[in-house]
Amino acid sequence: MGHGKNNFKRYGPLVNNSQRISCDYLVIGSGLAGLTAALKAARHGHVFVVTKKTADECNTQYAQGGVACVIAQGDTFDSHVHDTLNAGVGLCHPDIVSEIVRSGPERVRELEKYGLHFTRRGELSDGLDRNEADELDLGKEGGHTKRRILHAGDITGREIVKVLLTHAAQHPNITLLENHLAVDLVSTRHIEWQGENRCLGAYVMDCHTHRILTILSRFTILATGGAGKVYLYTTNPDVASGDGVAMAYRTSAEIRNMEFFQFHPTCLWHPDAKSFLISEAVRGEGAVLKIRRGGEHEEFMDAYHPMASLAPRDIVARAIDNELKRTGQECAYLDIRHHPETFLRKRFPNIFEKCLDFGINMARDLIPVVPAAHYCCGGVRTDVNGVTTVKRLYAAGEVGCTGLHGANRLASNSLLEAMVVAHNAVEHSLQEPTDDVHIPASHIPDWSFGDASDSDEMIVVSHNWDEIRRFMWDYVGIVRTDKRLERAKNRIRLIRKEIEKFYWDSIVTSDLIELRNLASVAEMIIDSAMARKESRGLHYNANYPPGDSSTKGKDTILRQPSKAEVWFE
Ligand code: FAD
Ligand code: SIN
Repeated sequence: MGHGKNNFKRYGPLVNNSQRISCDYLVIGSGLAGLTAALKAARHGHVFVVTKKTADECNTQYAQGGVACVIAQGDTFDSHVHDTLNAGVGLCHPDIVSEIVRSGPERVRELEKYGLHFTRRGELSDGLDRNEADELDLGKEGGHTKRRILHAGDITGREIVKVLLTHAAQHPNITLLENHLAVDLVSTRHIEWQGENRCLGAYVMDCHTHRILTILSRFTILATGGAGKVYLYTTNPDVASGDGVAMAYRTSAEIRNMEFFQFHPTCLWHPDAKSFLISEAVRGEGAVLKIRRGGEHEEFMDAYHPMASLAPRDIVARAIDNELKRTGQECAYLDIRHHPETFLRKRFPNIFEKCLDFGINMARDLIPVVPAAHYCCGGVRTDVNGVTTVKRLYAAGEVGCTGLHGANRLASNSLLEAMVVAHNAVEHSLQEPTDDVHIPASHIPDWSFGDASDSDEMIVVSHNWDEIRRFMWDYVGIVRTDKRLERAKNRIRLIRKEIEKFYWDSIVTSDLIELRNLASVAEMIIDSAMARKESRGLHYNANYPPGDSSTKGKDTILRQPSKAEVWFE
């Protein structure tokens, strides 16, 4: 527990018959952002972490490339800032970029203190002297002009989650509830309240019993990650259904730049590979992209960008899309056959094994790849401290939009951002007054099932789920047009109407909650894309040729209740 101003009242945990819990911090999500926040907040009060599946199922778990951070001699903060701004195409917020980049080394040291081991050069190469062998091995990825990606082999995310979960599980101030899905935020909109909108916690479903808990908290930290499942093909695990953005939107938080959905250029193309990622770090080690023409495989990225296969991601994904359409091929290829098998096995042990499972030896064979939806650059609008437009509600990690990524995220900047913003959010909460308002817990209603009944029409869920993901891929994907967006808008309007009715008439299930959130996020992406009358970064609309990429752009903001409130900031 802290002292003085930060000496929070110890509430509990208290679970009573009415299924209520009170705590100092409620953290929703157990990826890098959620666990960083939880471990930090646990020094100051009792923390509940709720996560909808097992604690290790999150985007963080699958991160391969690593964490972008200025560590190497010869690298500078200015250079990392420059590369981030360049990738973001005039939409990054430079002050935020600078602050996040400069906070990197401290947060990375903290990860190491938790026990994370980043790969050293000596683990990959023989014949180095002791000092050289002990240096961090730094990877390179698209858009970076320097080697600056710290990595733990090619399973960086898995290692991060492992060390943080070990600490969180042992911490006496942290209660971690797996298979608990946040259904909605509790806010002053649920009670009679004259002041500014304030978050009071969340309604959370125990996915085994279907009970809905009311978890009241002094601070709520949304760390629910991304929304890749909104697209048919994605690198993201099933948990990435955009719940946090949808919940925040329903609580009238401002949502920013949802049109900027990043497509990763290189997912393994194989019917059984389920969009397995081939890290950009593979291109960082010299792999080049090729396309088949006749019987030959030819490089093509030189024609698109001076950085060729290591150009920023929006450019590479679009180039592949263009080449596939132009040649009628089903996939492009990565060629890294210039490296010996021994090196590839050491540098990319996981990717190497996975490719072998599908009969591809990276040292001898070309790797078939296609783009897939990967990262939501937009999200709940925050500052660098994760402060949202709803009081006592923070957002950190992929669910948030600080302004770091602009119109296109620079590779490996998201793990960095998740750590920095989660840390800052807790620091910020310590400055908030403890007793500025008093809302008796008895004024806050529990979840009511109303007249809802068990539904025997679950086909509605699976049908709509499939339809949304397919038309988002076809109409709101890598290349958009006004007509396609219009079509998507018409579809989503009808589907959302159907889902809303179904939602209020039926007893909620986790599938239905996720579908409702997915549909809401899909509509936010469409609305934001329709509002942006230009092509910029990840938002490419064939009706608007890309302008001068150095011109400063404007953000797109969405806020409930009125759909008319889509504006450029
Ligand atoms: P997540 O790690 O996704 O965690 C979200 C958590 O919230 C999960 O535990 C989820 O179950 C939970 N949750 C969601 N909704 C609810 C709900 N309603 N109720 C309760 N819990 C909920 N970035 C990099 O910087 N470097 C990389 O090398 C890199 N590689 C990547 C590779 C892959 C394959 C993928 C998919 C992403 C990669 N990224 C990378 C992006 C990066 O991993 C993510 O942006 C980052 O990990 C997000 O962290 P997070 O904590 O915000 O969210
Ligand atoms: C990758 O390893 O290619 C993913 C990196 C990222 O998404 O930042």
